[in-house]
Amino acid sequence: MKNYSLPEKPSGIIGVVAGVIMLLRHRRSYKLAWKALDLCDQDTFLEIGFGLGNFLKKAGGVASFVAGLDHGKDMVKIAKLMNKTKILSGKMDIRLGEASSLPWDDESFTSAAIIEAFYYLSNPKKTLLEVYRVLRESGRIVITMIWYRDGKRSYKVIEEKYNANIFSIDSLRMLLNNAGFKNVCVKVTDDVLLAFAYK
Ligand SMILES: C[S@@+](CC[C@H](N)C(=O)[O-])C[C@H]1O[C@@H](n2cnc3c(N)ncnc32)[C@H](O)[C@@H]1O
Repeated sequence: MKNYSLPEKPSGIIGVVAGVIMLLRHRRSYKLAWKALDLCDQDTFLEIGFGLGNFLKKAGGVASFVAGLDHGKDMVKIAKLMNKTKILSGKMDIRLGEASSLPWDDESFTSAAIIEAFYYLSNPKKTLLEVYRVLRESGRIVITMIWYRDGKRSYKVIEEKYNANIFSIDSLRMLLNNAGFKNVCVKVTDDVLLAFAYK
């Protein structure tokens, strides 16, 4: 069985503590993703790798329907607890699952985000093809990741320590283009790598 690093699949009490620390560490990433998504009440939104589910909760306050998928069963439990009322009202769907095989029908969403989770995906190519499939025509995807590549901490250290895959701007752009996305824009803003593209 695969040995997951803590951010790759947070579990147990330590996973929950890590989730809280991540909420703080990933603030800039959330802020940029929120701004880029620019959700409105006409949107149906999907988040992959939601951790404790705080972004789902925020999105649920704006979009008409919100869904999320994470492979960490403790993360799913907490996100469900945090979003109980929305789930009961039928406006939120939280699932345990693998990002490269999404359980939703084609063209279910107008928008999608992968926040601080893209580096841990076991199959990023297939995940992007899946997100493309479940997005409606002109739907948008936002991916954010703290930019380690030119930073003080060597990305090789992060890759080894956390089993992460630190993408370059060009490789992320290529992955999105190859999955079929259009108007792909990848840039580093405020030390966060932000990718935005349309179906
Ligand atoms: C570093 S955490 C980020 C959580 C949250 N987005 C945040 O910024 O606080 C990465 C999340 O992605 C999930 N994840 C990683 N690989 C996944 C995969 N292949 N399928 C589904 N979820 C995955 C993990 O369980 C974890 O909750």
